[in-house]
Amino acid sequence: MIFKKAGMTAVEEKSAIIILGASGDLARRKLIPALSVLREQNLITPDSIIVGEGRSEFTDEEFRDRFSTCCEFREQLFYHQGIDGLRDYISSKGEFSKIIAFLSLPPASYASTIKRLYNEGFRDEVNIVIEKPFGRDYESAHELNESIHRFYSEKQIFRSDHYLAKEAVQNILIFRFANSIFEASWNSNYIESIQINAFESIGVEERGGYFDHAGSIRDMVQNHLLQMLCLTTMDPPVSLDPEDIKNQKINILKAIEIEEVSRGRYSGYLDEKDVAPDSDTETWAEMKLKINNHRWAGTPVYIRTGKALDRKGTEIGLRFKKRPHALYNPPEGTAPNEIIFKVQPSEGIVLQLTGKNPGMDLQLARTDMAFCYSNSFNEDIPEAYQKLLLDALRGDHTLFVSAEETELAWKKLNGITNRGELTPYEKGSVPESVFGDIWINFENYVDIC
Ligand code: BG6
Repeated sequence: MIFKKAGMTAVEEKSAIIILGASGDLARRKLIPALSVLREQNLITPDSIIVGEGRSEFTDEEFRDRFSTCCEFREQLFYHQGIDGLRDYISSKGEFSKIIAFLSLPPASYASTIKRLYNEGFRDEVNIVIEKPFGRDYESAHELNESIHRFYSEKQIFRSDHYLAKEAVQNILIFRFANSIFEASWNSNYIESIQINAFESIGVEERGGYFDHAGSIRDMVQNHLLQMLCLTTMDPPVSLDPEDIKNQKINILKAIEIEEVSRGRYSGYLDEKDVAPDSDTETWAEMKLKINNHRWAGTPVYIRTGKALDRKGTEIGLRFKKRPHALYNPPEGTAPNEIIFKVQPSEGIVLQLTGKNPGMDLQLARTDMAFCYSNSFNEDIPEAYQKLLLDALRGDHTLFVSAEETELAWKKLNGITNRGELTPYEKGSVPESVFGDIWINFENYVDIC
């Protein structure tokens, strides 16, 4: 179980890891390097095999040459052209107690590929990993889930959201539920607002074709931002069983109501490669939500995400309410406390406090208490795909998204995507907020950690 242990537990059985669409970018940039690290750390066995599948014709040697791998691990890589005959090919390599099939393919081919895997003879022994996007609205997500479930049980399906595998995101639950000092104030009596940022400095780059059909709301809010919000606000699960964690996230997704949305688009977006000249796609989204439950009624949630902004940074901030009586600094009182989860580029948790400036006079100053990964731990932070691949092999669903969660998240966004004006903003800048001066000054925390 991920949340119980430090480090990663090895998969001791001989496994076969199939990458469908192995000549693509994801296999080269993320999957093969992640598997190579898992092998190096003995987290998968030396007799496990990694089989790339694709339409192109490669010999094993040609396939191996595509990656900068060496030695033993290189010998564990194989290639098979096409899905036909793939089951027999795997059997010809030996008996494997674990098989995972990672679909590194265009989402439009998920349903047909899964059917083909089933017809090829992959049955209960296989776990299937699918990358987002799962559908583009509630109806298509529901249809996709139904067609998957015709062949495989939900237990065999691992919908990845790589944000859940980020160390600092996993730490949200530990921070909240392994420490007793926060829980009492983690509610609308004490928290004035919850704010989530996922800023990117890059534009759409080579992914204009995909992104132009999605936009920031579908691409980031439906999955990464809502998942982070669930972890930040859910009630404690009764156990660390993935099912119990999932149920608490579902309760939040059910309670969410989107109140306001504004969209923006960076200058020059229409000139990006593979973007439609009459595109109505947003590269920036800002939203106000509420959570209609006992704990959070009355605490607004603000989220914003975008591309081509002034910096890359993902943060979750909770701003506390001010003291009811302004003992210091009357009449306005001292600045509210803030807790910031720094997810990236550097990981940490910062608590903003007010203290006394040293000196004879009573002068107050804002100060921080910071827990920074870089100061506290020597271990390298594992890359998200290492964790996701290992967990799919172990059959652990904690960091994956269930059919119900993904459908609920889409349901909440129905009618919101592609709605409203697109406000232009300059590349490299952050659009002015439509909510005015409510935002935590996240820039203050950038250099801490
Ligand atoms: C992906 C989105 O899910 O997340 C991309 O499709 C986005 O558009 C990426 O760039 C951001 O991930 P990270 O880990 O770089 O924050």
